[in-house]
Amino acid sequence: MKIAVIGTGLTKFGELWSKGLNDLLAEAQLSALKEANIEANQIEEIFTGNMCAGEFSGQLHVGAMASENLNLNVPSTRVEGACASGSIAIRNAIQLIESGKAKIVMANGVEKMTDVSTPQATSGLMGAGSEEWEEFQGATFPGLYAMMARAYMHKFSVPKEVLAMVAVKNHKHGTMNPKAQFRREITVEQALNATMVADPLTLLDCSPISDGAGSIILASEETAKELGLDPVFIVASSQASDSLALHSRKNLYSTYAAKVAAEKAYKQAGISAKDINVAEVHDCFTIAEIMAIEALGFAELGKARELIEANETYYNGAKPINTSGGLKAAGHPIGATGLKQAIEIVHQLKGEAGERQVKNAEIGLTHNVGGTGATVVVNVFKR
Ligand SMILES: CC(C)(COP(=O)(O)OP(=O)(O)OC[C@H]1O[C@@H](n2cnc3c(N)ncnc32)[C@H](O)[C@@H]1OP(=O)(O)O)[C@@H](O)C(=O)NCCC(=O)NCCS
Repeated sequence: MKIAVIGTGLTKFGELWSKGLNDLLAEAQLSALKEANIEANQIEEIFTGNMCAGEFSGQLHVGAMASENLNLNVPSTRVEGACASGSIAIRNAIQLIESGKAKIVMANGVEKMTDVSTPQATSGLMGAGSEEWEEFQGATFPGLYAMMARAYMHKFSVPKEVLAMVAVKNHKHGTMNPKAQFRREITVEQALNATMVADPLTLLDCSPISDGAGSIILASEETAKELGLDPVFIVASSQASDSLALHSRKNLYSTYAAKVAAEKAYKQAGISAKDINVAEVHDCFTIAEIMAIEALGFAELGKARELIEANETYYNGAKPINTSGGLKAAGHPIGATGLKQAIEIVHQLKGEAGERQVKNAEIGLTHNVGGTGATVVVNVFKR
């Protein structure tokens, strides 16, 4: 399988109070179109990842919004898989092209979160967990990931400093990304001593509440050739699921669906974890990056700290992770995150990542998680 990425568009992420949901979506779509250098009417179908517009903006039917922005009458559908919504949109576009039913398809992601209060955002986001077993009992996402962090730290005797080091690295990468929400460095001490959100996770272990949108245009290999392009290709796309609620999982210290999705993706691409030169992983909380490193096979279970403590996950290390700043520093506008991850990898593989460029990056990966690991999408990109 080889699906070409022929255009990308990404808004800045952050508290974008002067821009509404549709301003963000349209900005990303139009810049993807401009980069692809095609006419809007060459797009045959649109998928848009979004989780909370219904609750936060009173706007459902985001699919129709995306087609109206391009003045098109093509099929246009909103897809939702919590924080993995954006990568699911990409995966739907890939599958449509693979099926032979379309040659050029647009995938978008958008979220406008900062118009509601933090308690409203927290409550809306809990829709990604189990309403019956978790939300109704008063659990929040920071609380659920805190339980996972406790289980992991206890099982593998990992100190809190290792989690803090993930935040420090992602904030460092954020300083090099003009589109990131936070562009300031932090220290391990600041991360450890920041306001406690859900013990052991402090403010600096958490991704923020963000606004933003992203868009990519995908095409069949033949179409990309006809257009005279030399694009980055998506060579594998895999999705896996696990129980909605944490208590039904095999354990709390690993994410099984991510392991399943990664293994399938490596098989599809004919590669192994060792071949990945750069990865964007779903660090909604610092512990999630640690679990991702292990689920993706970059380190054995309980051993991610070896890569982290040796600084190997920095942009200039042996296994660069979250060069965009990750969700932690670049921001996490839920539906847009999968798009931002894909666009970061495309820029890395094209050698267009500026200051944070990974040397000789040929193969990249995105890992996008919905909820506490109930939905996981892994996509592999190749130059
Ligand atoms: C951690 C959290 C509760 C903080 O929200 P809050 O207390 O309302 O924070 P505020 O917006 O009042 O911001 C207070 C300050 O902290 C900063 N800040 C907020 N969130 C931050 C974060 N995650 N990391 C670093 N700084 C952050 C703000 O920029 C602000 O700084 P300033 O005083 O210099 O302007 C919120 O970001 C959160 O819920 N994050 C998790 C989101 C989530 O669950 N996503 C889904 C994951 S699956």
